[in-house]
Amino acid sequence: MRAPSALWTRLAPDPLAPDGLGGMPGRTVAVDWEVAEDERFDRVAARGTVDAVPEAAHSVHVEVAALAPGREYFYRFRAAGALSPVGRTRTAPEPGSLGALTTCVASCANYPVGWFTAYRRLAEDEPELVLHLGDYLYEYSTPAGSVRAVVGPETTELAGYRQRHAQYRTDPDLQAAHAVAPWLVVWDDHEVDNNWAGETAEDGSRLLARRAAAFQAYYEHMPLRRSSVPRGIDMQLYRRVPWGALATFHMMDTRQYRSDQACGDRMRVDCGERFDPARSLPGAAQEAWLLDGLRTSRARWDVLGQQVFFAERRGRDGAYAMDAWDGYAPSRDRVTRGWVEAGVRNAVVLTGDVHTHWANELPLDDTVVGTELVAGSVTSEGDGDGATDHPDLHVNPHLRFRSNRRGYVRVRYSADRVTADFRVLDAVTRPGEPVRTAASFVIPDREPGLNPA
Ligand SMILES: [Fe+2]
Repeated sequence: MRAPSALWTRLAPDPLAPDGLGGMPGRTVAVDWEVAEDERFDRVAARGTVDAVPEAAHSVHVEVAALAPGREYFYRFRAAGALSPVGRTRTAPEPGSLGALTTCVASCANYPVGWFTAYRRLAEDEPELVLHLGDYLYEYSTPAGSVRAVVGPETTELAGYRQRHAQYRTDPDLQAAHAVAPWLVVWDDHEVDNNWAGETAEDGSRLLARRAAAFQAYYEHMPLRRSSVPRGIDMQLYRRVPWGALATFHMMDTRQYRSDQACGDRMRVDCGERFDPARSLPGAAQEAWLLDGLRTSRARWDVLGQQVFFAERRGRDGAYAMDAWDGYAPSRDRVTRGWVEAGVRNAVVLTGDVHTHWANELPLDDTVVGTELVAGSVTSEGDGDGATDHPDLHVNPHLRFRSNRRGYVRVRYSADRVTADFRVLDAVTRPGEPVRTAASFVIPDREPGLNPA
C-alpha cells in the first residue's frame, strides 16, 4: 500500500534565486528519507536515500511501497546536515473499506492578493486528504494594490516558474497545509498562462516552449508520482485514486487536451460552436478514460476532481462562459450520460476556478443525477463581500448556493452520506482571520442533490 501521492521536498537554501536553482550547486546531492509510524520517529517503517539532481532543481519525489493500509505516517528528509520539518501522510484503506474520510478542497491561491490564512485553517481542520483543483499559483507579476509581492516578472521560462513555485513554498500557511495530509493536485490555467487551451496561449499564439517549462516546474514542485514526469511538451496528470470502497477520485486535466475555446474565451450569448459534438473539454482520450473508469467503478462515491464550472450556468443576459463546460456542451452531456448509463451509485463533481463557493445540482433530462461542489479561492479576488445572493441563482434553479467569501470546502465522505461545509474567511487582506462555515449540505447515498445539513 502506498500513500496517494509521492513524498516531496526540494533543496533550496536560497529559494528566491533568480536563476530558479534555489542556491544549489550544479551537482547531485544525496537525500535521506524516513517514514515512521509516530511523529518522534521511534518506530521507523521505511527509509532510504535518493539523489536530488540539478536537472530537477534538486526536487525529490519518493514513492514508498509496502506500508500498512488505512493509517497515518510521518516523514522527513535529511541532506547536507539539514533536517526537514516533519510531514504527515496517510495510506489509502484496504480495497473493501467503507470507513469515513475527511477531505478539504482548495483552489486559486494568488499570493500577492492576500494571506494564505485559508490554508492555515484548512490544516487546523486536520483533513486526511487535500484536493487542490488548480491555480496553485499565478503567473503574473505583482499587481498594483497588492498586500505582498511576488518576485520577478510574469513567468514565461523555466527559471521564473521555478522561482515562483519556490516563493510560494516559503509561505508558512501553505507549508502547514502540505504537512497535514497527502495532496491530490491537478492544475488549471494559471500554472501556465491565463485561459490556455491545448497548444494555444491566451493571446492565440503557440504555447509549446512555455508550456513545457511550466509543466517541468509544476512536476518538480508537486507531490506527483513518476507517472507524471513530463515528456517534452506532454505531462500525464489525469489519474484515478481509489479510497477503499468508499470513493474513487477521478482527477482530471481539463486544460492540456481541450479543444480551443469556442467563439473566443469570454462570455457569449450566441455561439453555435459550443454545441459542436466534435469538440471536447477533456479531449477524446481522457473522456474515454473517464467513461471507462465510471463504467467499471464499484465505489460508493465517484468523485470528479476537475477545474471549471460543470453545471449549466446561463447569465442574466443569456451569456455562457466559453472557458467552462458550457462552452463544450456535448462533451458535458457525454460525461453526464456516461455516469448515468454506467449506473454509478453517486456522482460528485468538484470544481475550482471561479473564486466563489457554489453548490449545484446536476440535472439530466429534468432529473437530478449528480451534485457539484465548487470550492472558492484561497485568496483570488481579495476579500469579497458577505453576499450570498447572485442573479444566476434566480436564472438557474439548479444552482442552490453561492458565497463571495474566500475559503475552501470541507467534504466528509461516509457510507451513507457526503457532508459539505463551505468554509469562509471574512478577509484575506489582513492575516490571521478566523474561519466559519457559511453553509453545509448533505448528499444522501443514492439521492443526488443538496439537502440542508
Ligand atoms: Fe483562479
